[in-house]
Amino acid sequence: MPRVVLGVCGGIAAYKSVELLRLLTEAGHDVTVVPTENALRFVGSATFEALSGKPVSTSVWDGVDRVAHIDIGASADLIVIAPATADFLARASHGMASDLLSNTLLSATAPVLIAPAMHTQMWEHPATAHNVALLRSRGNFVLEPDSGRLTGKDSGVGRLPSPFSIFDAATALLSGTVGLLSGRHVVVTAGGTQESWDAVRFLGNRSSGKQGIAIARAALAAGAQVTLITGSVQEAVPAGVNHVKAPSAAQMLDAVRESMTQQPDALIMTAAVADFRPIDVQEGKIKKDSKSHEIPTLNLQQTTDILATMCSERGSASLPVVIGFGAETVQSDEELMALGVTKLKAKGCDMLVVNNVAHGAIFGEDYSEVIFMDANSRQKHSGTKDHIAQALVARLGSILEGLH
Ligand code: CTP
Repeated sequence: MPRVVLGVCGGIAAYKSVELLRLLTEAGHDVTVVPTENALRFVGSATFEALSGKPVSTSVWDGVDRVAHIDIGASADLIVIAPATADFLARASHGMASDLLSNTLLSATAPVLIAPAMHTQMWEHPATAHNVALLRSRGNFVLEPDSGRLTGKDSGVGRLPSPFSIFDAATALLSGTVGLLSGRHVVVTAGGTQESWDAVRFLGNRSSGKQGIAIARAALAAGAQVTLITGSVQEAVPAGVNHVKAPSAAQMLDAVRESMTQQPDALIMTAAVADFRPIDVQEGKIKKDSKSHEIPTLNLQQTTDILATMCSERGSASLPVVIGFGAETVQSDEELMALGVTKLKAKGCDMLVVNNVAHGAIFGEDYSEVIFMDANSRQKHSGTKDHIAQALVARLGSILEGLH
């Protein structure tokens, strides 16, 4: 279980650290919160203690018997400071040890992720810019603040990045994928398609898009440029992706084709694309006939297999890596792998991620269990969809590296 120290400084954005704490603990991390004195003016220690399951201290004079001011930092796998104020950036960049958090930072050998938040004038002040440059030169990862509404009526650069993007950056640091995909362009499809049969009805499926969106977020955190093509999804689309909506199988085919003109490095097809669509689509709503009780018949035709088509056309589009997903309803891993081998060959992709969706399992859940299959290897992964996304991004990084 990775040990994460969450440092919280005294700014209004401290309330967002609570959401970040929740994401970190739900991912299974052991989190110790170290707030500054001023952070506790914004969020009470009870909130941090209840959510982390650990006592919270700001002072080097607590826990003296276990040398807490050294112990917390030295035993951490990752330090995350969110929000980091201008004052904290100044103290940290100059190696000051004036409270428990700055002591913790000085005694840590783990990677350090800093998410600043302050008013635009303070962020743009040469003193802050110098302190950030100093921290970066020492190998700390300092995120750029977001732009938008600040504490008062003002808006500009200085907002704390969303807890999700801080969490993604933290996960990438823990799994060693930071920078792995920098300079790469990855196209990800996510969610289920909807095939209309009249003005109000469609044929759909149970896909939530969670896995595809988690992959897009992990690829972003690994430094990639990401095009995310979505059908119907139940998750927020992350900021920073080039988002293209493609509700139906035909629109998704067009969107994927269009994205190929930018010569991406990889296509990851997690979308649950409909295999069949109604032949006749009524312009208006089909009314029920209450006299004859006649039931309409739905005549279907097959859609284009986007994955197989892209694989067969990839020579001309020069697409280095194609990864497909396979959803099967099976009784055992052996059966799953046997179907996976057939699907891998039929699609012609480099790798297939197969999972067992019997009895509606996996759809909309946070956890998943998959097998990564290619021509030579099988690798089982289970855990949160974020965890599986990190593993896939790590694998993609090594495939791309191996191609050069
Ligand atoms: N796929 C696609 N276009 C389709 C159908 C599926 O690109 N019209 C892609 C999916 O995005 C996924 C892979 O093919 O990456 C496998 O999808 P899956 O639903 O598991 O298999 P199908 O090809 O639809 O075959 P079957 O339903 O018979 O298992």
